[in-house]
Amino acid sequence: MDHLFRRKRVGLLKPLLSLSLVFASFLMIHKLKMSEKDAVGVKHMRDAGWCGSECFSFKKATVETSVENSDSPVPLLDTQRVSNGTPASWDAQVLNCSEDASVRTQDWFRRLDPRFHQFVLHRHCRYFPMLINHPEKCADGEVHLLMVVKSVIEQHDRREAVRKTWGKEHTVDGKKIRTLFLLGSPTTGKDTKNLQKLIEYEDLIYGDILQWDFMDTFFNLTLKEVNFLKWFDIYCPDVQFIFKGDDDVFVNTHNLLELVGFKVEESKEADLFVGDTISKAIPIRNRQSKYYIPKELYDKPYPPYVGGGGFLMSSQLARRLFVVSEDLELYPIDDVFLGMCLQKLHLSPELHPGFRTFGITRRRVSSMNSEPCFYKNLIVVHKLSAQELLKMWSVVHNEELVCALRTSI
Ligand SMILES: *[C@@H]1O[C@H](CO)[C@@H](O)[C@H](O)[C@H]1NC(C)=O
Ligand SMILES: *[C@@H]1O[C@H](CO)[C@@H](O)[C@H](O)[C@H]1NC(C)=O
Repeated sequence: MDHLFRRKRVGLLKPLLSLSLVFASFLMIHKLKMSEKDAVGVKHMRDAGWCGSECFSFKKATVETSVENSDSPVPLLDTQRVSNGTPASWDAQVLNCSEDASVRTQDWFRRLDPRFHQFVLHRHCRYFPMLINHPEKCADGEVHLLMVVKSVIEQHDRREAVRKTWGKEHTVDGKKIRTLFLLGSPTTGKDTKNLQKLIEYEDLIYGDILQWDFMDTFFNLTLKEVNFLKWFDIYCPDVQFIFKGDDDVFVNTHNLLELVGFKVEESKEADLFVGDTISKAIPIRNRQSKYYIPKELYDKPYPPYVGGGGFLMSSQLARRLFVVSEDLELYPIDDVFLGMCLQKLHLSPELHPGFRTFGITRRRVSSMNSEPCFYKNLIVVHKLSAQELLKMWSVVHNEELVCALRTSI
């Protein structure tokens, strides 16, 4: 069964960050800042006026005004597009997501595995205030492709590697590529304040982080999905395509752009959703699995869905997904949740062999997993460390690399 081979999720198994790591990251960021006096840092500092306290600090005001209506804590607010065409701005204000006590009285809840209690009790809270926003990201002219990367604060080195490789913001044949990292807030028990300072500093340098005020846990990944869809609907009306992926994948940007080009030629943008599609999967009932779903929570086969490691969609479809997502209850596995949204639109994701979000071969040790010619011919491959990504990128982009044929596997 395909999805038994799902990769482990980013960094969630890591033990608490040691103070020394925080310190090392801080020194690293500082060093980077010193060495990169190119336009990025300087320009961003100079332009920082547009967002001021919006961007760089916890919004005290939000905290104070949060609990005005405690019997309906649902921070659901519609995206209001003002009729003169000015987009609405992020409007989710409710910071304190209190639990839905009515759930506790229900029979199925009493039978439910306690690991899911937290999820179910807070399931109604969907949109959260932003700690770091970039309303200007898509504003300067048409962005062709937006690279959207799920990350967590601690994975600074992975973001660094992505910025230097496939997530590099640049223009290819007049097509603008922009990058954003999606983050939640530090989970309790970690060195919250220092981590928050670090991420604000990192954003000050690169200006590519969106951060929401919900805990960055595995079951909250779907919140990243829905908050991003809403954000995109507000701030990026003219973007054409979105690549969405993890921070530990290799993306062959050239091949990705080529695929986009083909789809445009065939006029297939409207329903475009391509990736490593899994059909006919069923929920995992093995309680040891990270993807375990109890019957009480879901008792049907899954709709076709795409491995969340990396997929491509058109912005037209992203906006439709946003609309239908609002009518669906959150599901703890984010890629399955998107599959449910697609199903609601009567669409199936397209399977493309270039997307290898479950590895090139299922055997982790296979030599193919380190063979540059495969990377040259694929679009997305999981799963690489920051160092492996940097190395593979430079090998694949070395003009002396000779690959005999368009290799297929
Ligand atoms: C959040 O709301 C709940 C119930 O409305 C309240 O008991 C709790 O103290 C609040 N927490 C914070 C941090 O404001
Ligand atoms: C998700 O984040 C919210 C807000 O921080 C928190 O109340 C909730 O417990 C989290 N849910 C899970 C399942 O971790």
